Amino acid sequence: MPSKFVCQVCGYESPKWLGRCPVCGSWNSFKEVKETKKGRKSRSRGEKYDRGWVDGVQNSPLLLSEVEFRKEVRISTGIGELDRVLGGGVVSAGFYIIGGDPGIGKSTLVLQIADRLVKQGYRVLYATAEESLPQLKLRAQRLGARIDSLFAMSSSDVTEILDNAAEFKPHLLIVDSIQTVYMPEIPSVPGSVSQVRECGAMLLRFSKSTSTAVMAVGHVTKDGTLAGPRTLEHMVDAILFLEGDRNSGLRILRAIKNRYGSTEEIGVFEMAYKGLIEVKNPSELFVSDVHVDNRIGVTIIPLLEGNRPILVEAQALVSPTPFSMPIRNTTGFDARRLSMLLAVIENHTGIMLRNADVFVNLTGGMKADEPGADLGVALAIISSFKKEPLPGDAVYIGEIGLTGEIRPVKGLRLRLQEARRLGFKKAYIPTKEKLEDIETVTVKNLSEIFSILL
Ligand SMILES: Nc1ncnc2c1ncn2[C@@H]1O[C@H](COP(=O)(O)OP(=O)(O)OP(=O)(O)O)[C@@H](O)[C@H]1O
Ligand SMILES: [Mg+2]
Repeated sequence: MPSKFVCQVCGYESPKWLGRCPVCGSWNSFKEVKETKKGRKSRSRGEKYDRGWVDGVQNSPLLLSEVEFRKEVRISTGIGELDRVLGGGVVSAGFYIIGGDPGIGKSTLVLQIADRLVKQGYRVLYATAEESLPQLKLRAQRLGARIDSLFAMSSSDVTEILDNAAEFKPHLLIVDSIQTVYMPEIPSVPGSVSQVRECGAMLLRFSKSTSTAVMAVGHVTKDGTLAGPRTLEHMVDAILFLEGDRNSGLRILRAIKNRYGSTEEIGVFEMAYKGLIEVKNPSELFVSDVHVDNRIGVTIIPLLEGNRPILVEAQALVSPTPFSMPIRNTTGFDARRLSMLLAVIENHTGIMLRNADVFVNLTGGMKADEPGADLGVALAIISSFKKEPLPGDAVYIGEIGLTGEIRPVKGLRLRLQEARRLGFKKAYIPTKEKLEDIETVTVKNLSEIFSILL
């Protein structure tokens, strides 16, 4: 039979003998125990934090009909844009990761969540391993947070954080960040794969066994994925990413994974002195009053972000160049997609762009991650090349295929409704759709719309 070593103080199990228990910190407390298959009881790291009503733990088979639901407590943050992404609020016993680029506003976001919960009378413990407590206090003061009710500690030892949390019994524990906390017993440095995995496992166990919501800040790698082991992503209940261009104040919160809600929702914020301020009508932010004029090289495109239509302004500038390698520069639009669009425009409208620099910009720091923006971008380029304005009261929706055809997009009706709400009178669309107060023109291919408009 295999043997294991069990801490006689807290019950922590280890495959090898340890001098000091990583969970309760007691010395020489490990005793060897022979494992028997029958009646083997799972006791694992962090079990001492149990409040006795462990979520869904059942060691023997049970009929699903006999399984009892435990009431899930969902705490609304009161920030609409945030609750939308969370699926209604922070779930007790939920383990969340908030990821994002350096300096994008992760600590600001978690501090604002903490403050919202504190203001409703919940207990929150903010454990920071990245910043000092005075730094945290300064930010909290700047955000106008209730600093007389919010508890914080500065530590990077995850066992110390959890020991304190077990005593303090918060409704929400914030760990900033998972890459800077460590377990002293593991020889590798904080942020290494084994440290992040083990710290993640301990936080998970703590969260589930004590029904505490745990929110950990997570760093991202250069290619934009969560730093650390892939298992961390499987472990957690929800991964939220805060994105945005650091030069613009716009921030978009997305759920990459959410066991408690849809991943189709996004939250839009603006970073200000007082922290992240929700933007309830993002379209108005991007296209304020532009639809009154006809402008050269400008189109308005209803994008679909998850389930949410957002109107953005696409600007293009086509400028002749004597150089053999013309510049193709994009902001917010995929550069490879732009190359494809330029080739399609040349082939299907006869416009030669090979001797011209082409710049494409989506204003306001928005990114078009979906093909529905193709038609608007292509028309802005053509309009700039021909120096002819496009109707300012119209929007353009459609993906462009390699043969110049305009392909259907998802959520067409939602996009049209948003365009109508902002006062647009006409929409060029790929498939038939009727909506009151907005004239729709179905276009089949790029050469057809080219002949209609320019
Ligand atoms: N006084 C201020 N006024 C307005 N915005 C500020 C102010 N101070 C900080 N910010 C904004 O907050 C951002 C930093 O936020 P925060 O520290 O929450 O980011 P972070 O993602 O936690 O960063 P890190 O990766 O360093 O932990 C800055 O980039 C800036 O946009
Ligand atoms: Mg931070």
